[in-house]
Amino acid sequence: MARNSGAGIGQKPYIIRISAQKGGTGKTTIAVNLSVALRLLGYSVLLVDADSSNPSVGLHLGLENSTEGLISLLKGKSRLEYIAMTHGPTGLAVVCNPISTRAFGMSEHEEEVAYNTIKKSNYDIVVVDTQPGYFPEAVTSNIDYTLIVANPDMPSYMSALRLGEYFSRRKVPNALVMNRVKNKRYEISIREIRETCEGDIAAILPEDEIVPVSIASKIPACLLNQNNRFSKEMFDLAGKLVEKAGIPVAGDAVYVSKKGKRRFGIISK
Ligand SMILES: Nc1ncnc2c1ncn2[C@@H]1O[C@H](COP(=O)(O)OP(=O)(O)O)[C@@H](O)[C@H]1O
Ligand SMILES: [Mg+2]
Repeated sequence: MARNSGAGIGQKPYIIRISAQKGGTGKTTIAVNLSVALRLLGYSVLLVDADSSNPSVGLHLGLENSTEGLISLLKGKSRLEYIAMTHGPTGLAVVCNPISTRAFGMSEHEEEVAYNTIKKSNYDIVVVDTQPGYFPEAVTSNIDYTLIVANPDMPSYMSALRLGEYFSRRKVPNALVMNRVKNKRYEISIREIRETCEGDIAAILPEDEIVPVSIASKIPACLLNQNNRFSKEMFDLAGKLVEKAGIPVAGDAVYVSKKGKRRFGIISK
C-alpha cells in the first residue's frame, strides 16, 4: 500500500476515504470507529464528514449541534482550525456538517479545495466519511487509500467489486471491508468472497448489537467496549492500516498491550 505520487512516508497526513456506491452499508459507523481506534492507538486523527446530503458523524459522537462544517470551509467562511471540534473523550478532531434539510453538492473545484486544505493540515491521519455516488478526479488524485464497505449480499458485493476496479484503474490503493456479517446461509460466504475478490480484504466485521447501542448512546463501539467482537476487529483493522501504510509509531501512544490484553491510558494530545 503506497502513498499517491508525490507523497512520501512520514509526510502528513495520510488520507483514508471510506467509500461505497450503496447507502447504508456501514460507512459512517466504520469511519467513526476506525478514527477512534486510530486515535486510541496514539495517532493524531482528523475525521471529516464529507457526506453533504446525510451528515451523521456528529450524531455518532454527540457533536450534532455543530453549526459549522465542511460547507463553511468550502464557502471560505471559516478555516479548518476553527471548524474542527475536539471529541472530548478521545481527543479526536472532527469536522462535522451541520444537520439541516439543505443538502449541498460539492463541485470538483470544492472537492479540490477541501482536500488541499486537509493535505496541508498537521494530523497524522485523516479519515473521510462520504456519501454514496459520484466522485470526481479531485477525490481519486488526493487520497492515499480507500476502504470499500460492503454487506454480504449480492447487490452490495457486486457494487463493491466494481468500485474496487474503478479505484484500482486510477491507481488508488483500496481494500474491501465486509460489514454486518452474520454467517447465515443466505449470505455470500466469506469463502466465496475470498475466491472471487481479486483485491485485498481488509476486514470482516460482524453484525453486532454494540453498533446500534453505541449510536444510541453516542459513544463509539471502540470506546464503549474494547473487548467486543466488532471493536476488536476495528482495532485490528486500524493496526493493520498503519503498519501497511508505514505511518510512524505515534509519539503519544496511549495504547499498551500487556499479556495480550488491551489497555488504554490518558491521552495527552
Ligand atoms: N456491524 C454492524 N452491526 C450492526 N449494525 C450495523 C453494523 N454496521 C452498521 N450497522 C447499522 O447499519 C445502519 C447504517 O449504518 P451507517 O454507518 O449509517 O451506513 P452508511 O454510512 O453507509 O449509510 C446503522 O443504523 C447502523 O446501526
Ligand atoms: Mg453515512
